[in-house]
Amino acid sequence: MSVIIPVAGGKGGVGKSVLSLNLSVALASQCKQTILCDLDFGGANLHTMLGLKNNQNGLGHYINKLVSDIPSLVQSTGIPNLHFIAGDCLFPGVANMDFFTKQKIIRELQKLECDYLILDLGAGSTHNVVDFFLVVDNGIIVVTPEITSILNAYSFLKSVVYRFCYRQFAPKSAGRQILHNSILQRLEGKDFSFHQIMQVIETTLPGEGYECLKGMQQLKPRIIMNMGRNIQNSEMGKRLQQLAQNKLSIDLDFIGYLPYDECIQYSIAQRQPAAVLYPQSLFAQSLIPVSKRIISAQTTASRLHDAPEDFDDIVKEFYSQHGN
Ligand SMILES: Nc1ncnc2c1ncn2[C@@H]1O[C@H](COP(=O)(O)OP(=O)(O)OP(=O)(O)O)[C@@H](O)[C@H]1O
Ligand SMILES: [Mg+2]
Repeated sequence: MSVIIPVAGGKGGVGKSVLSLNLSVALASQCKQTILCDLDFGGANLHTMLGLKNNQNGLGHYINKLVSDIPSLVQSTGIPNLHFIAGDCLFPGVANMDFFTKQKIIRELQKLECDYLILDLGAGSTHNVVDFFLVVDNGIIVVTPEITSILNAYSFLKSVVYRFCYRQFAPKSAGRQILHNSILQRLEGKDFSFHQIMQVIETTLPGEGYECLKGMQQLKPRIIMNMGRNIQNSEMGKRLQQLAQNKLSIDLDFIGYLPYDECIQYSIAQRQPAAVLYPQSLFAQSLIPVSKRIISAQTTASRLHDAPEDFDDIVKEFYSQHGN
């Protein structure tokens, strides 16, 4: 079975696709069989970044029942160990697929034979994006050091935690109802933390609130800051970490800091990944420790006992090596 890594971000244009693509190249170059899958329905563009024509079957064909299995969609990229599954292939309406189709895609993706399966997700916090993100408990969220990106990432995380808790309770159960009502009250300005909501559930349904809280501790989204500009950027990361802890009762694991680097624009214009065209660039070099961290997280005995990386340390280390 493969290690699945969904890549989301809440906000558009923060570098989800650039990261998904170049991280896949970095993993492939370390001899890991990697499949990069374009799940940004309505905004699929990885084929362009890979220099591939958009005339092969992709998930759009599967969703429209023109092909019956997902393994047949895997195409080669010309890059050793890196394979690709195209997205909507210009079929309209694919992003609005029903629940059962989404579940079927998830089950099929989980069966794919490879070491790493990278899922490039669309912007926003729709159920479909959140459900693909929740295929694992440690998906990657890409942020930039801008307040809009940080707030959108927080919104996305809130949707993730809500959806996670919602699925812990049976349909039409009292637990689901209390959760739903608390969120509605939140919208009216009473800003309960998820911890407080679970305490309310616990009072009414002993055992169930704490059980859900226990489940939430398994959620450990990983954060990568992209388009970094200076050492002060660590403040933005800390802000997101505090919001997640105080309001959502979850810990975030910062795993990387990638600089703003013009080689990205050049590589997109040349339709090849930066990690292939400019392996010595600051961006490609900064991605290597991230990919190593990802590989070692899977090989250490228990990820849950690892201390989360300190974002400040990651940013300081970057600037001590590369200057400000
Ligand atoms: N580290 C970087 N340095 C410089 N430019 C970057 C970097 N990362 C991304 N970009 C620029 O940002 C643009 C958007 O990146 P990308 O398409 O990966 O974002 P996205 O989050 O996938 O967007 P969407 O939500 O539209 O799918 C790229 O076209 C590129 O020009
Ligand atoms: Mg994208």
